[in-house]
Amino acid sequence: MTDDLIRALPKAELHLHIEGSLEPEMVFRLADRHGVALAYDSVDALRAAYDFHDLQSFLDLYYAGADVLRDEADFYDMTRAYLARAAADGVVHSEIFFDPQTHTARGIGFDVFMPGMLRALADGERELGVSAKLILCFLRHLSADDAMATLDAALPWRDAICAVGLDSSERGHPPSKFTAVFDRARALGLLTVAHAGEEGPPAYIVEALDLLKVRRIDHGVRCVEDGALVERLAREQVPLTVCPLSNVKLCVFERAADHNLKTLLERGLCVTVNSDDPAYFGGYVADNYRAMQTALSLSDAQIVQLARNSITASFADDDAKARWL
Ligand code: ADE
Ligand code: ZN
Repeated sequence: MTDDLIRALPKAELHLHIEGSLEPEMVFRLADRHGVALAYDSVDALRAAYDFHDLQSFLDLYYAGADVLRDEADFYDMTRAYLARAAADGVVHSEIFFDPQTHTARGIGFDVFMPGMLRALADGERELGVSAKLILCFLRHLSADDAMATLDAALPWRDAICAVGLDSSERGHPPSKFTAVFDRARALGLLTVAHAGEEGPPAYIVEALDLLKVRRIDHGVRCVEDGALVERLAREQVPLTVCPLSNVKLCVFERAADHNLKTLLERGLCVTVNSDDPAYFGGYVADNYRAMQTALSLSDAQIVQLARNSITASFADDDAKARWL
């Protein structure tokens, strides 16, 4: 029953890195297409390497994997494959992160990846009925100047981008480092989100809210260490885009049964469930719902609440939300 319910409920996915949807099979196909040498000799060997002990150990492989993305067709194929997989899980709307600096640093510009992703979004909407938006993420381990230059480079594509976000290595790279960039993004009419409180302290969540004026917190699970912050998040109904399988794979929680998603939900926070980097963490969005349902004994009513939260927390327009709720 619950399995069917999870799939059948209209869901929005609000925390999905498109480069993290690159399955090992596609890594090998694209490497072959472009004659790129890989450090692993088979799909199985690559998948076996996905054994992480923290965020950085994952990011090292994630950035290496993205190196096979070379032309417009690669970005199209990756994005179109994700949308098909998400649609099979009952995702009706997806807000997709992309990391421009991972590509521009390799000489691959907005004129390559934007057309590829946008063509896939148009086909996905027409062929699968999935609506989608793009969120440009700045890599926080790079400088604020680099982020500002990236925002400049994105200007010709302003109307194709809904929001900006902040990802990559969290510890030592607080949201305050990017205040000026986010000020400028908001002046351009872009919405803002940020990864905070995944590995970093609750103070980073507060900075993201107060300095970057974010509409959602990506992850945010470490908020429980600050009671006043939990009360604020509940009072202001700031959505958290939680990624359960990611948190277990990156050792934020030792086991799924230790995850605080149910606690946060029961404290009245607007919690949502998402897949983060599904090709690396062992599951797409329905797998994440299922893992939490099993490990935490979520009720059907709580599953319904999580799906509804994903729709209300999305940046879709009110008419679309009303259709899905
Ligand atoms: N980039 C891709 N996945 C990420 C995560 N879970 N945290 C920070 N940066 C990321
Ligand atoms: Zn993420």
